[in-house]
Amino acid sequence: MSEPLIRLRGVTKVYGEGATALQALKGVDLDVRPGDFVAIMGPSGSGKSTAMNMLGCLDTPTSGAYLFQGMHVESLTRDQRARLRRRFFGFVFQGFNLLARTSAQENVELPLLYRGESAAARHAAAAKALASVGLAGWEHHTPAELSGGQQQRVAIARAIVTEPAVLLADEPTGNLDTQRSREIMELLWRLNVEHGITVLMVTHEADMAAYAKRIVHFVDGVVANDMLNPHPAGLHETPTVAAPLTAPGTEVH
Ligand SMILES: Nc1ncnc2c1ncn2[C@@H]1O[C@H](COP(=O)(O)OP(=O)(O)OP(=O)(O)O)[C@@H](O)[C@H]1O
Ligand SMILES: [Mg+2]
Repeated sequence: MSEPLIRLRGVTKVYGEGATALQALKGVDLDVRPGDFVAIMGPSGSGKSTAMNMLGCLDTPTSGAYLFQGMHVESLTRDQRARLRRRFFGFVFQGFNLLARTSAQENVELPLLYRGESAAARHAAAAKALASVGLAGWEHHTPAELSGGQQQRVAIARAIVTEPAVLLADEPTGNLDTQRSREIMELLWRLNVEHGITVLMVTHEADMAAYAKRIVHFVDGVVANDMLNPHPAGLHETPTVAAPLTAPGTEVH
């Protein structure tokens, strides 16, 4: 068994102070190994996005430990965390979060601009990333000229253009119809299986979680259930919802 890439131990998160304080995470333990594909499920308000923001170094725990490749993220400075984030993580959100009057190509180049890469290197890497999400030929379209599914694929290209170790996707199919959602899931599946990117994805839909190798359920700020998906959906298959999704089984991690 490989060492965990990510290890959370007793992670808590409190928003606000005093009488209005809200404890969003109440002691999360989670290990993620390189190459894993984890679907995070659970009721609204159970702390899924809070946990994702923490994993992606966008936020810090109130208490507890977050180890990334054995390094204590919770004790890094803000700048060190930002560097870790830019080097190792890609993000995909429900609302695509693309710059509106900016071409697909320029949207995808943005993370490389922040890294200070040359124009030639940016162009080449963005074109390659767009091709890998099936958008060769669409480089000069703006988001308004693209469908929802295409916009999410631009967002995925932007997330992978830096060749991250981990892709964090918070309800990536939340704004898409079933067919477009499956296309996005097949894309995430390919990035995981063919490119070895570790994927953590929040979803409310069992059909989408069915593509993952592992399903983690959050309830009220803790991991309530963590199980392997015995038969992850592959490419061009109608996903079958694994039995443990509806009938939580024993913990395997
Ligand atoms: N920035 C914030 N300030 C204060 N409270 C917050 C903040 N972000 C989240 N919360 C609260 O923390 C709890 C967990 O929120 P979180 O967004 O992590 O839930 P979630 O599981 O992602 O829910 P959903 O499925 O609706 O996206 C909620 O009660 C929410 O209101
Ligand atoms: Mg959320």
